[in-house]
Amino acid sequence: MQRFDPAKDSPANLYKLMIGMVVPRPIAFVSSLDAGGTRNLAPFSFFMACSADPPVVCFVTAHRPGPRPSKDTLTNILATREFVVNIVSEEFAEKMNAASASVPPAVDEFTLSGLTPLPSEIVRPPRVAESHAQMECRLRQTVPISNESGDTNTVIFGDVLCFHVDEAVLLEGGGGYKIDPEKLRAIGRMGGPTYTRTRDRFDMVRPK
Ligand SMILES: Cc1cc2nc3c(=O)[nH]c(=O)nc-3n(C[C@H](O)[C@H](O)[C@H](O)COP(=O)(O)O)c2cc1C
Repeated sequence: MQRFDPAKDSPANLYKLMIGMVVPRPIAFVSSLDAGGTRNLAPFSFFMACSADPPVVCFVTAHRPGPRPSKDTLTNILATREFVVNIVSEEFAEKMNAASASVPPAVDEFTLSGLTPLPSEIVRPPRVAESHAQMECRLRQTVPISNESGDTNTVIFGDVLCFHVDEAVLLEGGGGYKIDPEKLRAIGRMGGPTYTRTRDRFDMVRPK
């Protein structure tokens, strides 16, 4: 086994190790609004479900080198406390990627990517109409993770106020709660520019 020491290695190398090791990562496609109402949309793969009772999800916005160290998504959520997590399917993967461009805050990534805004029911940021599953969220808490230079990544926790699931991806007879992965066709992120589909699956029953 080769050994890598975080105290001696560069952050860039450690990042490569982590995104190659922690795979596949689900993608939170996050819509938010700035204080003036401009729409924002960006993908985040440092993302997970944290709790079902209460329902809470979290994702991480990384420090951005340069003059605008906070991602617009973080700035917006701190200002408005609301966001939507949209799940990404294969059919609009390229549009999701287009929305990840580093553009100034005034640019509306719905327009940039060609994705369609759909009004939410509780929060002000719109959902992505092309997404088959969405979670309307209110900011619960942020947790900063800083390095010695003070560069800060931020974990954003959101309470899910409302789940929306397209009937087309629900399994018959699942009582409305079982999502068919074959129909959802969610994608995950691997290292670098590589993604994974969720078509190759197997079942395993947990031991009693
Ligand atoms: C699939 C994918 C996953 C990404 N995951 C993250 C992430 O977990 N954290 C992060 O800070 N940036 C991530 N990025 C980069 C952001 O999407 C990118 O910096 C974007 O411009 C941020 O937009 P904003 O400034 O409008 O918030 C990811 C990009 C892609 C394509």
